[in-house]
Amino acid sequence: MKTRTIVAGNWKMHTDATEAGNLMEALVGWSAADQGDVQMIVAPPYPFLAAAVEQVKKAADGPSTIIIAAQNCHQEESGAFTGEVSVPMLRSMGVGACIVGHSERREYYGETDEVVGRKVSLLLKHGLQPIYCCGERREEREEGRYRDVVSTQIHTALGALSPEEVAKVVVAYEPVWAIGTGLTATPEQAQEVHAFIRAELQALSGGMAAGIPILYGGSCKPENAEGIFAESDINGGLIGGAALVAEKFIELMRIAQRIKTAA
Ligand code: 13P
Repeated sequence: MKTRTIVAGNWKMHTDATEAGNLMEALVGWSAADQGDVQMIVAPPYPFLAAAVEQVKKAADGPSTIIIAAQNCHQEESGAFTGEVSVPMLRSMGVGACIVGHSERREYYGETDEVVGRKVSLLLKHGLQPIYCCGERREEREEGRYRDVVSTQIHTALGALSPEEVAKVVVAYEPVWAIGTGLTATPEQAQEVHAFIRAELQALSGGMAAGIPILYGGSCKPENAEGIFAESDINGGLIGGAALVAEKFIELMRIAQRIKTAA
């Protein structure tokens, strides 16, 4: 089975309505003509999701296959949770995927793997693609504990799912020390953890881990993506800063196309 290759852009809390519209327009225009086999996923901030979904639907050169993702969701289906956004809301507006467990949510909003696991489960129930993020902090790597940390994260968040559900998750390995720091994991460092994650997922998914896309995230940009994407257990990237510049993000798509099509 050939594992899907995915390049996903996480815009975080960047852009305004005009910038978001322009960025989406550039991506939609390119993808309709040129996307090939690589799946593009774009995660704008909540207020710009509806416009992004419409832009994808109305792509001038035919239907674009970009999947629009949210950057977070609530773990309950509805209720008195002021300011929160539910999975059914996202689904009703055509959002197809959602990032969960990003390290910034863990760090600034106290998100635990228990909560993240509930989000993954709810997303799957409603047919949205969860993009589950895991990864160790700097001190955990320096102390040589990164495998334990990542293993605990994965087992806590995904352990209660059925093997069929686990097989539907996209995982992103995002070492916290590499996010927004300009410090990238070397291809070898990333490959080592990706292979480890795949081995952990093997039992959880009932032997279907080979088909689970595992994306690398952390200062990934056109200058360093070639080496990273060339690794066998790296199935694409979850991109922050470089996803805010259309040319860079498109270049990352092209690199993924070239490397993974040749593989
Ligand atoms: P940077 O690419 O800016 O390091 O961010 C990575 C990330 O957190 C994507 O979710």
